Amino acid sequence: MIASILLLPGDGIGPEVVAAAADVLRAVEARFGHSFTITTAPIGAAALRLGLAPLPPETLEAARTADGILLGAVGDPEFDRGDASRRPESALLEIRRALQLYANLRPARVWPGLENAGPLKAEVLAGTDLLVVRELTGGLYYGEPRGFAADGQSAHNTMRYSRAEIERISRRAFDAARTRRQHVTSVDKANVLETSRLWRQVVIEVSRDYPDVRLDHMYVDACAMKVALAPSSFDVILTENLFGDILSDEAGAIVGSLGLLPSASLGDGPGLFEPVHGSAPDIAGHNVANPIGAIASAAMLLRHALALTTEADAIDLAIEEALRKGLRTRDLAATGDSAAGTREMAAAIAAALTPPSHSSPGSVADPRRSRA
Ligand code: IPM
Ligand code: MN
Repeated sequence: MIASILLLPGDGIGPEVVAAAADVLRAVEARFGHSFTITTAPIGAAALRLGLAPLPPETLEAARTADGILLGAVGDPEFDRGDASRRPESALLEIRRALQLYANLRPARVWPGLENAGPLKAEVLAGTDLLVVRELTGGLYYGEPRGFAADGQSAHNTMRYSRAEIERISRRAFDAARTRRQHVTSVDKANVLETSRLWRQVVIEVSRDYPDVRLDHMYVDACAMKVALAPSSFDVILTENLFGDILSDEAGAIVGSLGLLPSASLGDGPGLFEPVHGSAPDIAGHNVANPIGAIASAAMLLRHALALTTEADAIDLAIEEALRKGLRTRDLAATGDSAAGTREMAAAIAAALTPPSHSSPGSVADPRRSRA
């Protein structure tokens, strides 16, 4: 296949983990006989430092014409002051809106060998394999009016959802559930919020088209508790923007490290794929960041943007293989144990990539295993 992939390395550990993921994409290209045109453009503080806007128009244009976009992270404490539109993070909010990336998929599962890496008992974590489907272009993040009062003594944001917005994200969640364990938990705060009451109503309407998928509803506070107490009870969690932001970080924490979590942001055009972890400026530039979130995001790009399912499965299996060999970046290593660097982990994953015809028994993809 011939495809164009745009890299947006961004800030903090973004460039390191994107370079790691690009190495793995190059390995996929070579082993599976594809031809990827991989280009790079500035975003976030990296763009601000070049005297450009956080999301330069040229970067947005390149994004519109790519088949898939791989983003590292945006955010830099140096630019934390100043007005909102000059913050690195505004680039992310703008690109999500400009490309109408309304569906954010954030899978979290327990990786083999990492059963004890998180704060939960291994028997509580066992079997955890969930997918947060987060609405990404509505709710409090974008609602108008918003702002500070003239005297600076109060501030306001608006949570607003339309039927159409709720319907399209719900369909994504039900469609995803059909490829997994046919279970959607819709998360809201319908005991307090009107937007949540509309949310629940529309989700129920959409569910009638998916009689094969089990639907239940949960308030967001109860859901946050249950993710910590019984994470394996979830399959697909369908929720609005801010609730999904919070629950997906929680999901990252319980599976061992936020550094493991990939994401896909999908609309009707090119999708954007990025690790959930953020820019982590405190560890940037030291070759210690966990590249697995970024590499698994590259796998999601192959799966969702290019429909290269076998290749995406091969990356996931290669990550498992590297972990099985005992490689651990610093976030995963037990105290006192030596840790693998970002580049070492990426090289091990690239080396473990096996085209299907060469796979040995035991490394064959288990078709019953759900894949985001
Ligand atoms: C995320 C991040 C972003 C969000 C920030 C950086 C704007 O936390 O992708 O989860 O809140 O959506
Ligand atoms: Mn977040």
